[in-house]
Amino acid sequence: MTNGQLRATRAVYPGSFDPPTNGHLDVIERASHCFGELIVAIVVNPQKRDPMFSLEEREAMLAQCCASVPNVRVENFRGLLADYVKAKRANVIVKGLRVVSDFESEMSTALMNRSLSQVDTMFLMADQKYSFVSSSIVKEVFFLGGDVAALVPDPVLRVMEAKRATLHSS
Ligand code: PNS
Repeated sequence: MTNGQLRATRAVYPGSFDPPTNGHLDVIERASHCFGELIVAIVVNPQKRDPMFSLEEREAMLAQCCASVPNVRVENFRGLLADYVKAKRANVIVKGLRVVSDFESEMSTALMNRSLSQVDTMFLMADQKYSFVSSSIVKEVFFLGGDVAALVPDPVLRVMEAKRATLHSS
């Protein structure tokens, strides 16, 4: 693919974003320079767990964090990612890779998604300063009283603080 073709490409960056972290935002910003259009797609009802933040909260947090990136928009989807990327006529799925252990599951997922949709997955290496940052570790540390201010964008921290206050008052 030439650079011109990449710039004409619509890419989808899927995830739970429960909550978005600085690692996610780093991938979003870097991917936005690679592709003409980037859809940040929040999966609704992921199989693995109930999200801590509602879909509306996650959409609002991401929209605020991505507001300054002109070619990024935030959407959500339910069901198979392969069906969603086909419906969106996207050419690429974007994922971030933090550590080698991410690669094992991402490889089979990428191959499955390609076999279902003919859409390839392109990986961006997470910046090393975010290689230990995941939504689940951020949530665990924060709700046990740890400082995560350096790990999430400010709008996300404010929503997390509001959520913690709600949980403590109930
Ligand atoms: O942020 P996450 O939770 O690591 O993201 C995982 C996600 C949402 C990208 C993945 O669970 C997904 O694609 N879910 C949609 C359902 C689907 O297509 N499953 C089959 C994958 S081969």
